[in-house]
Amino acid sequence: MKIGSVLVTREQISTRLGELGAEITRDYEGKDLLLVAVLKGAFMVMADLAREIRLPVDIDFMAVSSYGHATQTSGVVRILKDLDTEIAGRHVLIVEDIIDSGLTLDYLRRNLEVRAPASLEIATLLLKSGIQRVPLEVRYVGFEIPPDFVIGYGLDLYGKMRNLPHVAVMVED
Ligand code: IMP
Ligand code: MG
Repeated sequence: MKIGSVLVTREQISTRLGELGAEITRDYEGKDLLLVAVLKGAFMVMADLAREIRLPVDIDFMAVSSYGHATQTSGVVRILKDLDTEIAGRHVLIVEDIIDSGLTLDYLRRNLEVRAPASLEIATLLLKSGIQRVPLEVRYVGFEIPPDFVIGYGLDLYGKMRNLPHVAVMVED
């Protein structure tokens, strides 16, 4: 596979995260908000989105593995790193890079709901349209994109290309 055309530019990402940040700021005004990013892919969204939220948020990370080393979902989710923080009674916003089948977040949501947060919502930069295999309520969506495999801005292929500043499509060579 090789890198194809740019799907979302760094300017588009920046503008959209500014809008989502403003929305989140309004929605969580006066609340105790904990942002939880899912490593590794969401590290860049977390860094940029957090800076657009004008509230004293806390930040934590989880690491899960759903793909192993393939470009198709297995449906099997493993927690590689759990939260450092207790979330009971707190407002939790999961920050994701991309939702494909939705299986990872479905698992994560159930896992965190058991810990009785005051609220639990999802923000994702990218949502692949119409291919979710489980119903998933996503409160904040950056961009809906076609169901192609994409890389960049945190998203990898075999661990590489996360550092591209934009999102690009992978194509067969
Ligand atoms: P899901 O469980 O199928 O929704 O997949 C979620 C995870 O798979 C994401 O957090 C990404 O880490 C990874 N993923 C899904 N689609 C892509 C893609 O197009 N490029 C890179 N990683 C992806
Ligand atoms: Mg990944």
